[in-house]
Amino acid sequence: METRTNSESKVEIAELMLPEHANSIGLVHGGTIMKIIDTAAGIAAARHARNTVVTASVDRIDFIAPVYVGDLIISKASLNYVSRTSMEVGVNVTAEKFTKGLVWHVASAYLTFVSIDENKKPMEVPRLKPETPEEIRRFEEAKIRRERRIEELKRKGKKA
Ligand SMILES: CC(C)(COP(=O)(O)OP(=O)(O)OC[C@H]1O[C@@H](n2cnc3c(N)ncnc32)[C@H](O)[C@@H]1OP(=O)(O)O)[C@@H](O)C(=O)NCCC(=O)NCCS
Repeated sequence: METRTNSESKVEIAELMLPEHANSIGLVHGGTIMKIIDTAAGIAAARHARNTVVTASVDRIDFIAPVYVGDLIISKASLNYVSRTSMEVGVNVTAEKFTKGLVWHVASAYLTFVSIDENKKPMEVPRLKPETPEEIRRFEEAKIRRERRIEELKRKGKKA
């Protein structure tokens, strides 16, 4: 089975927040940030798989600090773990008020994507080869999260 490194798929997206992304007091919607997270993570997963992927699950997202119209949102997504057909992607979101040189952490999330074939059935993906100590640590931690997710799905009577 082919292997790919984390650096082959990682993604960084910057998006300027406009009035259409926000409520009447200029505060960016949580849903806007969730869409940016899903997009960045989906690109990283699809790059790793070199195939179509679907979002299977999103772990808890906490919005740590607000973002306003005029701020830049930067989301960095990279693969944490790969099993047979699924991939866990970690996303770190920061906001930047570039006129003032301020940067702050907005949210972090773990998402699982599944590579699918033309019949929309799960399809095997290349293995992930973590190289740096940080990538190895993320890989090991993600493996434990995956086991917990599967246990939870089983408890709820859903297969995974
Ligand atoms: C995700 C999906 C393809 C999985 O299909 P399935 O027939 O249930 O697949 P399986 O039970 O064989 O599981 C396939 C893989 O998905 C993983 N998986 C399935 N459900 C999961 C969930 N809720 N969370 C995390 N991983 C999940 C399994 O662990 C397995 O991983 P592995 O092959 O790496 O071991 C299917 O549920 C689906 O199409 N869901 C809708 C996706 C969608 O519309 N997303 C939004 C738009 S992109």
